[in-house]
Amino acid sequence: MLTREQVLEAVGRVKRPGGEGGPGIAVRDVVVKDRHVSMTVLTPSGEPEAPLEAALREALAAVGAETVHLRFRADGGGSGAGGAAQGAGAGPVKGHAAGLEAHPLLRPDSGVQFIAIASGKGGVGKSTVTVNLAAALARLGKRVGIIDADIYGFSVPDMMGIEERPAVENERIVPIERFGVKVMSMGFFVEDNSPVVWRGPMLGRMLRNFFAEVEWGELDYMLLDLPPGTGDVALDIHQMIPQSKEIIVTTPHATAAFVAARAGAMAVKTKHDILGVIENMSYYICPSCGGRDYVFGRGGGARLAETLHTDLLAQIPLGAPDNHPSEPDFSPSVYKPDTETGRIYTEAAQAIIAKCGV
Ligand SMILES: Nc1ncnc2c1ncn2[C@@H]1O[C@H](COP(=O)(O)OP(=O)(O)O)[C@@H](O)[C@H]1O
Ligand SMILES: [Mg+2]
Repeated sequence: MLTREQVLEAVGRVKRPGGEGGPGIAVRDVVVKDRHVSMTVLTPSGEPEAPLEAALREALAAVGAETVHLRFRADGGGSGAGGAAQGAGAGPVKGHAAGLEAHPLLRPDSGVQFIAIASGKGGVGKSTVTVNLAAALARLGKRVGIIDADIYGFSVPDMMGIEERPAVENERIVPIERFGVKVMSMGFFVEDNSPVVWRGPMLGRMLRNFFAEVEWGELDYMLLDLPPGTGDVALDIHQMIPQSKEIIVTTPHATAAFVAARAGAMAVKTKHDILGVIENMSYYICPSCGGRDYVFGRGGGARLAETLHTDLLAQIPLGAPDNHPSEPDFSPSVYKPDTETGRIYTEAAQAIIAKCGV
């Protein structure tokens, strides 16, 4: 086990390359999980500095860090020379996501309910659940946003049938609105579906920009569609939005639920409230007899909810929405409210509203 203290001590020993015995390196948002370390490094320009990065990585590897995720951020002056104390391990870590604390959506008293949709692995239906819960919350009169934080595997625009691109007004990006939900995704800024290759620090900045440069207006709920697993983006979200709650998506299969438990365990460790578990692809409804066929096994969602001491919010049947491209509001993945699955999503949204009280 690598401790936070060991990490801070190691950082404290690093001298700014070229600097002469001046103050140490200022870091923020230090997260240490097992042997994985993530932190924000304050530099004068906010740009990665190769010699500094190398020195930090070496020092952290020397104390046993296996993976190191460094974000670089401009030192706003407030935590300048004298503020380097954190590197020496003194005092609590100040502020999450420097400069964003005052953002109207992120202020702890904003009243916006942030819900990250997480899972242990891909393909279980996280994005499908995100867009349908968002649409259901909007149907119930809530003001809802989605951040498609699956920056490499963005799929929210396609799933909702969004073809337009956001406009820029007064130098701010206006999210696309669909089914009453405001949507922001990396997919809006990538030409021809080309793959996105970002380095760690850019990832953090992207998420940051989704707040800093987007005109969200007032919201009741912001849903975040996370990439699978427990990687960098999950840590960034933890740092930027410590008040975020989580919903864990799994399939009914026992091993899927086991993998999802890891995502849940991370939420517990990072002290995020888990609102509940959604079991997707729970059963297939036989079209002729109406009976249920539990093709992927049974009980995974309930067991996971029990493990995480939370509720099973919904069990979503197998089957794509019966939507047709000729319809004016066509989307490949949003179930209509008057279908069986649409009603299940509405009930799940009601349960979420009851839990959040907003
Ligand atoms: N209940 C369901 N029934 C049938 N297909 C589904 C269901 N939920 C999701 N899918 C499909 O499974 C695939 C993976 O879902 P997706 O939401 O992209 O998962 P994730 O975001 O976890 O990777 C998609 O093609 C999606 O349309
Ligand atoms: Mg997805």
